[in-house]
Amino acid sequence: MTRVEQIGLHEYLAQEVQSVDRVLNEWVPGDTVEPAIIHRAMRYSLFAGGKRIRPVMAIAAARAISDSPAGIENAAATLELIHTYSLIHDDLPALDNDDLRRGRPTCHRVFGEAIAILAGDALLTLAFEVLSRLSSTEAERRIRLVEELARAAGTVGGMIGGQVCDLEGEGKRPSATLLESIHRAKTGALLRASVRMGAIFAGASKQELAAISEYGEHIGLAFQIIDDVLDVEEPSEALGKTAGKDEAQQKITFPAVYGLERSREMAEQERLAAHLALRMFDDRAERLRQIADFIVHRKA
Ligand code: IPE
Ligand code: IPE
Ligand code: MG
Ligand code: MG
Ligand code: MG
Repeated sequence: MTRVEQIGLHEYLAQEVQSVDRVLNEWVPGDTVEPAIIHRAMRYSLFAGGKRIRPVMAIAAARAISDSPAGIENAAATLELIHTYSLIHDDLPALDNDDLRRGRPTCHRVFGEAIAILAGDALLTLAFEVLSRLSSTEAERRIRLVEELARAAGTVGGMIGGQVCDLEGEGKRPSATLLESIHRAKTGALLRASVRMGAIFAGASKQELAAISEYGEHIGLAFQIIDDVLDVEEPSEALGKTAGKDEAQQKITFPAVYGLERSREMAEQERLAAHLALRMFDDRAERLRQIADFIVHRKA
């Protein structure tokens, strides 16, 4: 085990967040670069204290495949750019109409709707610029990363597709099938892509990539089950976003379909299945196992 692998999970996560933030800070133009308002809005939402779980998972997956996947932080950071864009848009009045995100007033509350929409667009665009400029990665691998990210953020089984079904599902009678397809798409796809991108970056074999994908699918679903549960169980102050919002907006959620207790059990099943998917890996996948536990047992 390397030195990094010996430190506790909390410290490990803090270290990884720092390395991802360093890279994000380099890629996003500074607050004073013109037109300054857009860079301020991008930075306002990006540096508001998110968990950075997607880039952290990409890095952990890369390290499960290769000891020193140099430059992985850059590829990993693109996931956070896409994720933050999706949050800014998710909070807009036309979508979830939220006032609080990452413990702060939402982007549109501070900068107005037009700039918030454009800040989301800009983060999305920047993600692909960063991938195209991964200088130490061969061109073919860069293209595979672009494809992974684009598909996961896209309309067919991806984040946008899931968001559309989430919005159209509001107020409808929740069905188990619709619920699972919404969650797999709106959240699961990007989490699955996170570990796949890490694995692809590090040169995973077909078999390794298949195992990592299976892990990502299980943990992606578990992530949104827990997000739904926390929306019911935790107060806004703990979440840094408005609690109780799903019920108020009659969203199709796991607690709405199965109740809280069964939802937690189902997340637990997904956690165990994620562990099982990693059976071909040795200690190098230990962080991925710990992250699966963290996702299911987190309080925010
Ligand atoms: C919240 O994601 C939105 C979902 C996709 C469920 P996170 O819980 O990862 O939010 P941050 O990035 O830590 O703020
Ligand atoms: C959002 O799901 C998923 C995204 C693609 C952003 P939610 O609407 O449940 O996320 P929160 O609870 O507002 O963070
Ligand atoms: Mg939403
Ligand atoms: Mg929302
Ligand atoms: Mg939610």
